Parts: sequence; C-alpha cells; structure tokens
Amino acid sequence: MLGRDFTSVLDLSPAELSGLLDLALGMKRDGASPVLAGQTLALVFEKPSLRTRTSFEMAMHRLGGRALYLSDHEALIREREPVKDVARVLSRMVQGIAARTYDQATIEELARYASVPVVNALSDDEHPCQALADLLTLRERFGALRGLRVAYIGDGNNVARSLAYACVLAGIDLVIAAPAGYELPPDTIARAGALEGHGTVTQVRDPFAAVADVAAVYTDVWASMGFEHEAAQRAEDFTGYQVNMELLAAAPADALVMHDLPAHRGEEISDAAIESPRSVVFEQAENRMHAQQAVLASILGGAR
Ligand code: CP
Ligand code: NVA
Repeated sequence: MLGRDFTSVLDLSPAELSGLLDLALGMKRDGASPVLAGQTLALVFEKPSLRTRTSFEMAMHRLGGRALYLSDHEALIREREPVKDVARVLSRMVQGIAARTYDQATIEELARYASVPVVNALSDDEHPCQALADLLTLRERFGALRGLRVAYIGDGNNVARSLAYACVLAGIDLVIAAPAGYELPPDTIARAGALEGHGTVTQVRDPFAAVADVAAVYTDVWASMGFEHEAAQRAEDFTGYQVNMELLAAAPADALVMHDLPAHRGEEISDAAIESPRSVVFEQAENRMHAQQAVLASILGGAR
C-alpha cells in the first residue's frame, strides 16, 4: 500500500491514497485493533503542535503502541548533532519516526539515514497527513471524491501544496486564489499536473471567481510557522483574501468551510465563517487521528 516512508503526498499513487482513506474510514467506524503492540513512534518536532502531536500519540495508543515526543529541546537536530546521527540513533530504539521540521530536506535526510519508516508531520513544503484528513472529511461528506471542485483561498504554502497533490490523485479539481507572489510555484503545479490522477489544479487571482460552484472553501494562515516575521507585510498583501460571509455568499449555499487549524480569526477567516454550520474544521481535526492510524497501521503494521 505505502512504501517505507511517507514524506510527501507524492509518495502515493491514486490507488494507495484511496486505499488509505478506505482503511481510515473502516478504523473510524469499527475501531482499531492493536496491530502495533510493542512498537514506539518517535515524534521529532522542531515546531509547536496541538493536533499533529495529539493525533499521532492517540493513533499509536489506539493501535496498541506508544509514542515518544521529542521536542526541539531534546532533539535539537540542527545544533546538537547532525540529522543523520539522530536518524541512526532513533532507528536503534524505535520502530518509526514522525518529524515536523522547517526544511523538507531534513525529513528526507532522516528518511535516507533511518532504518525505520519516516512520516512527514509538516515541513515548510508539505503537510501530507493534513491532506489525508481533509480528503477523509470530504469522503465522509460527499461519498465520492472524483469530480468534486474545491477552492483554496490564501497562501500557496505547505498545506496548499499537499492538498493540490492529493486533489489531483483523488480526481478533485482544486482552484487556488492567491495574491501575486504567494501562488504555488510553477514546479509544484508541474509536478501536480504530472501525477497519475484525474484531478486538476488551477490558480486564479480573484477569490470570488474561485468559489463559484465549489463543494468546499478551504483556507489556512497567511503567515505559517517560520514566517511570523513577515506577518505584517502578509496581512497587507492578503487584503481581500479573507474567507468571510461575503465571500461565502458567492459560493453554493451548502459549500463547506475548511481550515486545518490553528486559525487566526479576523485574518484569513472571519469568526462568523469558522463558526458557521457549514464549517467542518473540527471534523478535519478529528480525522487527523483516523487518517494517521491508517498510515501507521499500513507502514508499521503492514495493514492493507
Ligand atoms: N493542523 C495542524 O497540523 O495543527 P498543529 O500545528 O496544531 O499540529
Ligand atoms: N501552514 C501552517 C499550517 C499549520 C498546521 C504552518 O505551517 O504554520
């Protein structure tokens, strides 16, 4: 189903993605069995987290294993020792590593040197586990994914990139509306276009044009972790890109509101939009746990 590592959505084929979503739905419905008894997943985190840490810890617990959280203070993978040494030390003691880093290259280096599977728990480039949870949420709401149209309003960041790849694999048409200079770069669009799936990624400037005829309107923060120093400039540059009731009025009345959280109310999303009955943000958050159970059961437990 999955190879040894899950460092990017690009590691998945359309069939593997669909299989993981089936597995996650089944585990959510029927509960998980302790297929990872005796196994430990190390969580190596360079950045803070609520959802990702909790969902990995609870996923391991529900699968009969355990998680070991190593904050930047313990691992200090940049300053205290080389990434390749962290990878080899952890490989002698744990059965898997989930890493949240700044550079995507750090996750890839961990994967290269570790003899145990490595899962991307967010990097500056990607958030593949989030994309799985988002598609799981859409599957639950709409049944089938193929042919859905989804709008993403805001920064062409890690969340947008993983979502774009996942949408193509799943047959979803994703329309991204970003201000000039904040689009997904051409190499990402080219990679998405070269994937096997039937979905598409289109970038437009006008958020109102993006939300016409969509099943869901997705947004994420304007200044991601590591970019906080640009927050003031970004707040200016993203003017007009807030997901609010005015923008939602241009979308179908039943279009869902999505956000990976944490949200900055009053910036990328209004309080009314995130609190509206159309909002599925807490379903997305819960689905992190179910999606990651499927990933962990698959790569650590050989589940199909
Ligand atoms: N959505 C998400 O990854 O949240 P955390 O940063 O709290 O883990
Ligand atoms: N784009 C955000 C996602 C947080 C889950 C960030 O990287 O900070």
